[in-house]
Amino acid sequence: QAFFRPISCSSPPSPTKRHTKISIIGAGNVGMAIAQTILTQDLADELVLVDAIPNKLRGEMLDLQHAAAFLPRTKILASVDYAVTVGSDLCIVTAGARQNPGESRLNLLQRNVVLFRSIIPPLVHFSPDTILLIVSNPVDVLTYVAWKLSGFPSNRVLGSGTNLDSSRFRFLIADHLDVNAQDVQAYIVGEHGDSSVALWSSISVGGVPVLSFLEKQQIAYEKETLANIHKAVVNCADEVISLKGYTSWAIGYSAANLARSILRDQRKVHPVSVLANGFYGIGDGDVFLSLPAQLGRSGVLGVTNVHLTDEEAQKLRDSANAILEVQSQLDL
Ligand code: NAI
Ligand code: 2OP
Repeated sequence: QAFFRPISCSSPPSPTKRHTKISIIGAGNVGMAIAQTILTQDLADELVLVDAIPNKLRGEMLDLQHAAAFLPRTKILASVDYAVTVGSDLCIVTAGARQNPGESRLNLLQRNVVLFRSIIPPLVHFSPDTILLIVSNPVDVLTYVAWKLSGFPSNRVLGSGTNLDSSRFRFLIADHLDVNAQDVQAYIVGEHGDSSVALWSSISVGGVPVLSFLEKQQIAYEKETLANIHKAVVNCADEVISLKGYTSWAIGYSAANLARSILRDQRKVHPVSVLANGFYGIGDGDVFLSLPAQLGRSGVLGVTNVHLTDEEAQKLRDSANAILEVQSQLDL
C-alpha cells in the first residue's frame, strides 16, 4: 500500500522546474567542500560523486546522505563507474594530485594529465551536452587539456581560474579599507598561479573607482603597498597549505558560485579560465587563462571588455606566454 493516497485529478501535475544534475569527479578535500556547498545552496536535484577509491567514496556519500533531514531534497549518488554521471548538466573535475608546501601548481601537470585521459572521455560519453568546470591544478593548462580531450566547443569548457584569487584579493582590500568584500569590485586575471595579474586600474568600492579617487584627493599611496597586496594573494594558497595541508573551503564556495551562475543562467561576470586567444593582444596559440567572463546556461557567454592599462595588458600577455610555455611540453 502506498504511503500517500493519490488525489484524483484530471491530468498529472507537470514538473515546475527542470531537473538539474551535477557530477563531481574526485571526492577529496576540494570535491567534498564543493559538494557540501552545492547541497547547502540547493543548486542541484541530483548530486553525483565519482572517485577512484570505492570505500572512501561510499563513506563520503553516506555521510552526506545522513544530513538529509537538514538539507534541501537532493538525490546523492556515488560510484567508481562513470555511468552514474549520465545526463549531467555540469561536471566539476577536482580529481588529482595536489601541491606539497612550497611546490608550484605547474609541477602537478604530468601526473594530472594522465588522470584526465581516463576522466574526460567517459564524462563526454555519458553527458555529451554537459559543461565541464575544471578545478584540478594546474587549472589553466588542465582546462586546455580537458577542452582538447573533450572535443567540446570552448563555451562548454572552463576552469575555476582566478575566481578564487579574486575573492582573496577582495577580502584583503576589504580588510585594508574596513568595508564589505561584496562591495569591492576587483579582478585578478591571467594564470591561477604565480604570473597572475591584479587589475588595479579597474578596482572600485561601492561604485567609487579607488585609484582615481586617491589621486583626486591627492592621497599618497605607495605602488609597493599595492604590490604587497597582490603578493599576499599569490602566496595565500601556500600559507594555507603549509598550515592545514590543503585548501578547501574557499574553493568550495568559489566553484558553487560558478555552478549557480551557470545552472541558474545568472549571466554574472566571473574571472574564470576561458579560451583567451585574441583578447587583449593575446596571440594565436590556444591558451586558457582567466578573464572576466559572463556565465549562463550555455556556459561561457562572452568576455567583458574591461579597460586594462598598457602595463596590465603586457602582464596578461606575459602570463599567457608562461602558460603556453608549460603547455608546449604536452603531447596530446
Ligand atoms: P585530495 O588528494 O584530497 O583529493 C583528490 C581526489 O582525487 C582523491 O580522493 C583521489 O582518490 C581522487 N582521484 C585520484 N585519481 C582519480 C581518478 N582517476 N578518478 C577519480 N578520482 C580520482 O586533493 P584535493 O585537496 O581535493 O585537491 C584536488 C585538486 O584540486 C588538486 O589538483 C589541487 O591542487 C586542486 N585545487 C585547485 C584549486 C583551484 O582554485 N583551482 C583550489 C584547491 C585545490
Ligand atoms: C588554491 O589556490 C591550491 O590552487 C589552490 O587554493
